[in-house]
Amino acid sequence: MHRFENAKVLLTGGGSGIGRAAALRLAAEGATVFSVDVDHSGLPETERIRLHQADVSDETEISAAVRAAAAELDGLDVVVNVAGIHRTTPIAELTVADLRRLYDVNLIGTALCCREALPHLPDGRGVIVNVSSSSATHGNPYMTAYSASKAAVLGFSLSLAAEVIGRGVRVVVVSPGTVATPLVGEDVLVGLDISYYRRIRSPMGVAEPDQIAATIAFAASADAGYLTGAEIRVDGGSHI
Ligand SMILES: NC(=O)c1ccc[n+]([C@@H]2O[C@H](COP(=O)([O-])OP(=O)(O)OC[C@H]3O[C@@H](n4cnc5c(N)ncnc54)[C@H](O)[C@@H]3O)[C@@H](O)[C@H]2O)c1
Repeated sequence: MHRFENAKVLLTGGGSGIGRAAALRLAAEGATVFSVDVDHSGLPETERIRLHQADVSDETEISAAVRAAAAELDGLDVVVNVAGIHRTTPIAELTVADLRRLYDVNLIGTALCCREALPHLPDGRGVIVNVSSSSATHGNPYMTAYSASKAAVLGFSLSLAAEVIGRGVRVVVVSPGTVATPLVGEDVLVGLDISYYRRIRSPMGVAEPDQIAATIAFAASADAGYLTGAEIRVDGGSHI
């Protein structure tokens, strides 16, 4: 498929996991992708994939990154917010710093990128795809802060969809279940019985990043032209 021929894509979190897979998928379908990440060691620069180092939670850095993307690509058609962090903490040990860091990256990074990118998106066909998580609508032990930050991404995105629908700009949320990336490594999901978690939360097994990237590409494409203000859960039956 070549659904993104000549499309200009700004994507955060392209350095690893789902963002990396989405950058490669969109580029393979013809897009030029401007990836913003704090660490791009997992993604080589190519003619179709440009790399820009920035922290999405830093207002100055993400504003500059969006300006750089729009200047280098000569506008934007699609924005994909994938950058995110995870941490598991028992409620008794949850700190304000933990809560703030998860919100800073997962919600505020997404919100700032949308705010800065929206003026560059074309009326009638601009698209934003924000990555939340099945944890936004699912209870998991030790994930209070992470789940709350991802539920915030979902709520933010639904209201944004309502706000920009008059411009013909679509906003879609993609919520993965468990995906094989460093984000759900044993060093991140501390204290959780990971085999239990994977069995209960991943009845179809753990997803590969490519499977989520395929859904992100669909949501961003003209194939999803009637889709906005919607959440697509790609969670392998996690909610059954
Ligand atoms: N892996 C899963 O099981 C899973 C499930 C549901 C949702 N998600 C969501 O998918 C997204 C991608 O996760 P992943 O599994 O690919 O993780 P990952 O750790 O493989 O990739 C995350 C990327 O985001 C970047 N990043 C982190 N903080 C950043 C910041 N402040 N500024 C810029 N870049 C930053 C990292 O450097 C990394 O390249 C996240 O938003 C995550 O919450 C993942």
